[in-house]
Amino acid sequence: MKSFNQLVEKRRSIRKYTPEIPSEELIRQMIACAGMAPSPSNIQPVRFIRIRSGKVKDHLRQSFTSGHEKFLALVKDLKSGKPLLNRINAYKRYSEFMFNAPVLFAVGVVKDVSGFSKTLLDAGLLKDDLRGDTDLDISIGLALKGFILKGESIGLGSCILTAPLVFIDDMESIVGLPDISVKCFITTGYPDETPPYIEKRGIKDIYLEI
Ligand SMILES: Cc1cc2nc3c(=O)[nH]c(=O)nc-3n(C[C@H](O)[C@H](O)[C@H](O)COP(=O)(O)O)c2cc1C
Repeated sequence: MKSFNQLVEKRRSIRKYTPEIPSEELIRQMIACAGMAPSPSNIQPVRFIRIRSGKVKDHLRQSFTSGHEKFLALVKDLKSGKPLLNRINAYKRYSEFMFNAPVLFAVGVVKDVSGFSKTLLDAGLLKDDLRGDTDLDISIGLALKGFILKGESIGLGSCILTAPLVFIDDMESIVGLPDISVKCFITTGYPDETPPYIEKRGIKDIYLEI
């Protein structure tokens, strides 16, 4: 069994998978770990929506393709649009693999949560709900980390994706769950690649004292 350090240090985003579909039991183990994450006042706002339906996937792909075409048309009229065009096409590539992944989830948060700052806003003590979105984003990140590391421990790779949501502009109607706000996708499956080494910042860069 891999040690905690090995799980954390060896984890990489995986975008290429073998065709084998991981068992429901393994997927549930990953979701269960995600569910153990901390959240503000233990509201547990994160939801994992497994996209199994071919119809929904087709719809997502169509919307993704039209979003990409829309950006291409817009960038065409820009002077010196070439670097932007390359960027758009790179993010297209870094999105499309999700449609072929053995398992695809949209990950979101329930909309009607009332955190501390929202409560103060409703009481007229604050002008804006300053913390609400940040708290939900932190909660999503923590849940995803549980999901990813559990996967890592049982031989399953994964990759978080937010780029597709820049292309897909009608996500909520496609998913059809009006109470959930989708924040990202995550793919999982058995890795069919070993990503090249990338540098991670060391402690001296990320650990500050004041
Ligand atoms: C919030 C977030 C959004 C990301 N979106 C994408 C994405 O849309 N497409 C993609 O291929 N990778 C995406 N990634 C994965 C990152 O590219 C990856 O984590 C980074 O390059 C570091 O590589 P590593 O995960 O292998 O350490 C995303 C990661 C995070 C945390």
